[in-house]
Amino acid sequence: MRSANQLLKPVTTKVNNKGNLEIGGCDLIDLAQKYDTPLYVLDEATVRAICKDFREAFKDYPQTKLMYASKALCTQAVSILLESEGFGFDVVSAGEIYTLYKAGIDVKKVTFNGNNKSFEELSLALELGVGRISVDNFFELSLLVEIAKSYKKNVDILLRITPGIQCHTHEYIQTGQTDSKFGFDLTQIDEAVELILESYKNLNLKGLHAHIGSQIFETSIYPDEIEILVKEIARLNEKYSLNLTEINIGGGFGVKYTEDDTPPSVYETAQKIISKLNECIEKYGTEKLILYIEPGRSVISTACVTLYTIGSSKQVPQGRKYVAVDGGMADNPRPSMYRAAYSAEIANKPDEKPVKEVTIAGRFCESGDILIKDISLPETEEGDILCVYNTGAYNYSMASNYNRVQKPSMVLVNNSQSDMIIKRETLDDLISHDEIPDRLKI
Ligand code: LLP
Repeated sequence: MRSANQLLKPVTTKVNNKGNLEIGGCDLIDLAQKYDTPLYVLDEATVRAICKDFREAFKDYPQTKLMYASKALCTQAVSILLESEGFGFDVVSAGEIYTLYKAGIDVKKVTFNGNNKSFEELSLALELGVGRISVDNFFELSLLVEIAKSYKKNVDILLRITPGIQCHTHEYIQTGQTDSKFGFDLTQIDEAVELILESYKNLNLKGLHAHIGSQIFETSIYPDEIEILVKEIARLNEKYSLNLTEINIGGGFGVKYTEDDTPPSVYETAQKIISKLNECIEKYGTEKLILYIEPGRSVISTACVTLYTIGSSKQVPQGRKYVAVDGGMADNPRPSMYRAAYSAEIANKPDEKPVKEVTIAGRFCESGDILIKDISLPETEEGDILCVYNTGAYNYSMASNYNRVQKPSMVLVNNSQSDMIIKRETLDDLISHDEIPDRLKI
């Protein structure tokens, strides 16, 4: 069965009777006029469709807990939306915990990950009652035990391990290989467990956690990971008379950024995960384990597009044509960081035939600020609205104020209604953290 992460565009995308693109029943040109550009447009129906896909895909393993990886896109409205779809959360900072907490979400449904959580962040997590801490290293174990003592709390933890699996994705977003900054090496697990059992009695070890990488298309990688994790869980249960019952396999499910991308269906990946997990449970003789998965990109990416207004163009004699837009690497750093490819259409002329290959340049002062290299588009003019697809994940969450440019706003669209969920920054927001020492004041 197909799932929404396999689509290039939000499920509600169509050309309306004015000949413009519309999403969530909202004309994209009207949205650009009303809210200005650049503008992130998030389609609620697509978010709900992919959440349903995840729930259905994993329903044959009722012990599954779906945890949205907030790092992909974390705002209060998005978090509430995902909680309403039955998701818990994987978080990696005090900021993400605080966002959920202030949105009214029960932080018991949260797992706190990260390779260098600070004293303050762990303290906040304990104070608010975060459900699980995935402990990444020996330093964190000793830090956490002290904080737990001062709060007189027992803390449920997982151990993050490095399973030694390499997936075929960009080097910067691989995490499971042995030479990684994340997690305990397989050879260090026993020492960590012994410390917990002998000295760190206020830490309750519940299970093991791993994450192999992101934008993964190979469905066979999860079974490999599961084999390693279940085998370890069974071995630790046996060796130390433990009752570890939780396996967290991380996220990483891929999405379709361009026609060339062929991510597998969530249903297909889920079947492979479930059958391997059942096989390993049988083989290693553990009880039914609670399965956590932490998808980020696949839950949110497809649901969002970014609208830009086209400004200047430059035809290099005998060379490329550059078409510049009013955003770029500060609202979407992925092309310049990972050479990520994107697809786009002109929202006010979606039915016009492509006439020319152009390169979409950002407005930031850097040659590398190219959003899309060599894309076929109809003739472009100043004032056209460019709609870049699949910008929900790791765009706003990695956005910056480079060149002192305000971060854009985001609207949530559904049933012809649009609501602002992130306000555009103002010029005053940009200087709101500046301080001028008295001796420099003019
Ligand atoms: N769980 C853990 C422990 C993770 O480290 C990550 C992502 C996820 C879950 C979610 O992975 P996802 O389902 O979104 O692939 N900025 C990069 C991606 C970095 C991913 C980091 N960890 C990008 O824009 O491609």
